[in-house]
Amino acid sequence: MLEVLKQLPADPILGLSTAFKQDTNPKKVDLGVGVYKDEQGRTPILSSVAKAQKILLANEESKTYITPQGVPGYISGMLELLLGKGHKTLIEERVAAVQAPGGCGALRILSELLNRCNGELTVWVSDPTWANHIPLIGSAGLKIETYPYFDKDQAGIRFDDMVACLEKVNKGDVVLLHGCCHNPTGADLTKEQWHKVLELAQQREFLPFLDIAYQGFGDGIEDDVYGLRLLADNLPELIVAASCSKNFGLYRERVGLAAMVTTNRNVRDAIQTQIQSIARGIYSMPPSYGGALVDIILNSDELKNEWLGEVSDMRERMQTLRRLLVSKLKDKGASKDFEFINSQKGMFSYLCISPEQVQQMRNDYSIYFVDSSRVNIAGISTSNVDYIADALTAIL
Ligand SMILES: Cc1ncc(COP(=O)(O)O)c(C=O)c1O
Repeated sequence: MLEVLKQLPADPILGLSTAFKQDTNPKKVDLGVGVYKDEQGRTPILSSVAKAQKILLANEESKTYITPQGVPGYISGMLELLLGKGHKTLIEERVAAVQAPGGCGALRILSELLNRCNGELTVWVSDPTWANHIPLIGSAGLKIETYPYFDKDQAGIRFDDMVACLEKVNKGDVVLLHGCCHNPTGADLTKEQWHKVLELAQQREFLPFLDIAYQGFGDGIEDDVYGLRLLADNLPELIVAASCSKNFGLYRERVGLAAMVTTNRNVRDAIQTQIQSIARGIYSMPPSYGGALVDIILNSDELKNEWLGEVSDMRERMQTLRRLLVSKLKDKGASKDFEFINSQKGMFSYLCISPEQVQQMRNDYSIYFVDSSRVNIAGISTSNVDYIADALTAIL
């Protein structure tokens, strides 16, 4: 029976990693996979996380299941990080939330929740969006459409086209927005643009679905949730999928949060039971470990301050690398203006070059990134930036 299923092609990013590993060129560079790397190309355990692990090891007394909702201090800590301490939706007890296995787990169970609300609704995602949004949302049986977002030729957001599209979205449809550090383009909405999105959500009565996987990697922990808080302040409902994979460096621990701002406490109570029953039907109980670490960090002034410093270091390193790459490209006389990289945020940027040029970077220089031209800025270092800039200048 199992032989009816055919082998699937390799996932483009994972396939790229395999090709990178097999490449024997000592100068090879991996700008593909979306994990933060330091100057030495390592993805280290954050010092705040290492300290939290010691505390957890000394204090954890059981490996019995945690509650279906997750670690309580993790949930309250994350809601404060996202919405702000004492946010009115928290005081009014309007927010349902569960700990989820990664941002992906949160995206999936929230999509299932949307399907339970209305199986006919459409989820609008940006063109382009993170590739995994499509299977995560689509597997829940929801229809997906795209709204225009990024213009590769202009290397900027197509905001007028985005607005024109969202002006036609049906009442009750869902619009997925990247909270910050848009993946794959690195192009984020300005504050004014977020206000326009709010106005559209109020006019059209669509439900914004915020995916926030890089809080702290753009402009800062507070600045990066400007849009999220604006919508939470002013709309009756909002859904949020958050991830601790990048900003806590907890990738393999699978720690995320699914949060739903509802109209009142009674709805919150109902939604809380619904989302827990969805999780029960997929993976039953959330994993504890990553959430327990984030709980320890967010609920200790000392560890939280240390973690905030570590997030700032990662953010500033990526901002410095952006500036360095752009100035090297200028110095080397690249025939394209890459200044846009400096205004983009977070871990990714689109280089806005053609798939053929991406192939050339891979074949001729062993510099690996996906065909869309998305690069992981954290894969650049002071020791490879000249090599990357030389290669780019040559293939243009
Ligand atoms: C836009 C976006 N959303 C969500 C995620 C979820 O990540 P994870 O499931 O590893 O927490 C990612 C990770 O790459 C992402 O880029």
